[in-house]
Amino acid sequence: MGDPLTVSAHLAGVVVHGAGRGRGLGFPTANVAADPGSPVPPPAIYSGWVVRHSTGVVHHGTISIGSNPTFCDTTDVHVEVYCHDTSDQFYGERVEVWFVARIRDTVKFASPEDLVRAARQDVLRSEELLASDHARRVLDDALATYRRTASF
Ligand SMILES: Cc1cc2nc3c(=O)[nH]c(=O)nc-3n(C[C@H](O)[C@H](O)[C@H](O)COP(=O)(O)O)c2cc1C
Repeated sequence: MGDPLTVSAHLAGVVVHGAGRGRGLGFPTANVAADPGSPVPPPAIYSGWVVRHSTGVVHHGTISIGSNPTFCDTTDVHVEVYCHDTSDQFYGERVEVWFVARIRDTVKFASPEDLVRAARQDVLRSEELLASDHARRVLDDALATYRRTASF
């Protein structure tokens, strides 16, 4: 049995346009439309690896799955990936998200500033989790799958 915080899941999909709010918050996210049948973990904030198919580069990510209750969006569940190590936009590109650990529940914050404060902490926690042995094993699986499935 692993740590209860660890997550064994990955999803694949294409990056689509979101509400366009993230950049203004200082947390630009890639909104992923999961492929039909690709399992989406329950709403929460997660750490994980983001495999960008066009380059084969694996990015460090913090992932928000939820309906963005702070902004009273809709009940639609968004999969949003914040990459720690690039400011590139991936619109139209295929990505795979390999979840490493669950960080916290999604919260309806009183203000965008409170959300940004929490998101900064999430990214720090995510980096700690991505340095774990479990994360290394997930990365090995992600790379092996990418090499098997990517068309060269
Ligand atoms: C690290 C991180 C944590 C987040 N946590 C929450 C949260 O707890 N509550 C919430 O309403 N939205 C949360 N979000 C989602 C933001 O509301 C969302 O990224 C923002 O509204 C931009 O959406 P857009 O890409 O559709 O413009 C989080 C996003 C990130 C990157």
